[in-house]
Amino acid sequence: MKLLLIGFGVVGQGLAEILRDKAAELKREHNFAAEIIGVATARKGSLYLPNGLDITALLRAAEGGSFADFPDQPGLRRGMTVAEMIALGEADVLVEASPTNLETAQPALDYCHQALEAGMHLALANKGPVALGYAGLQAKARAKGLLMRYEATVMAGTPTMHLAEDALAGCEIRSARGILNGTTNYILTQMESGMSYHDALMQAQALGYAETDPAGDVEGWDAAGKVLILANALFGSELALADLDVSGITNISAADIADAKAAGQRYKLIARAAPDGGQVRATRLPLDDPLASVGGSTNAITLETDLMGDITLIGAGAGKLETGAAILSDLLAIERQAGAK
Ligand code: HSE
Repeated sequence: MKLLLIGFGVVGQGLAEILRDKAAELKREHNFAAEIIGVATARKGSLYLPNGLDITALLRAAEGGSFADFPDQPGLRRGMTVAEMIALGEADVLVEASPTNLETAQPALDYCHQALEAGMHLALANKGPVALGYAGLQAKARAKGLLMRYEATVMAGTPTMHLAEDALAGCEIRSARGILNGTTNYILTQMESGMSYHDALMQAQALGYAETDPAGDVEGWDAAGKVLILANALFGSELALADLDVSGITNISAADIADAKAAGQRYKLIARAAPDGGQVRATRLPLDDPLASVGGSTNAITLETDLMGDITLIGAGAGKLETGAAILSDLLAIERQAGAK
């Protein structure tokens, strides 16, 4: 499977590491082999090599902050645009792992359309195109017999979308409610142990949980984007961010947290998607609420179904390997369902 990788930050590097370190296991267990033939980034530059880029050299160059240090070799092209890479038509899958833009979803949304036009499947970690452009992308993918997968966009590699769309096929999902942002859950957990908001946010950034601009996390927009993704995928709703009732954790003080603790409660940023709309709101939960015990960057979601009652999934919601694992699971699903071209 030949991959074009857009973005080479925490998530792209996580996927690259996994593809390198698990290459033998993936071949043995799944008869799966993937090559990254192109990488395009806003800051590090871009590289294209039809036979596949050496991942160790790629990671080393990224560590230095620029692909200028990637060794020259026959056939290597530097500085190509994403559109030029897609137009060559050599890749099987476009992996979109560049920073999320929840205002326009661009430029990722255009890249996704171009890739579908060129016959490529999509695997997205970027939430923008799934939150804002789901219906158009899915219609185009279906018309062309291609797959659009986006496990990484909600709860990293914790198999939320696989569970809802594949394992629970045949069940009606009536609502989804949970903790869908790792950064804010980490900050709230650390603040309860006495750390300042500022220090906890810095740690969340250093650990690779936060978005490139962490305002999206702490003001509730990242979780709201996930609510839109769930609403699109589970309920076929075509909601916009403006239709949601969204607030974050920026107005929760250390005193508020101490107050809740003294009352046997805990603040959690709770997101909810249902057919009639969605919310993101910091909520005081009693300690015996199952979501109250989900700490650190861990996420949780409860799907309310007709045939199975409530199903709760708890697991990683952010992180380098955790999000890379989500993309890997999508690539394997694409391999199983469609086979690489
Ligand atoms: N910034 C996001 C979070 C990353 O903290 O949950 C995963 O979408």
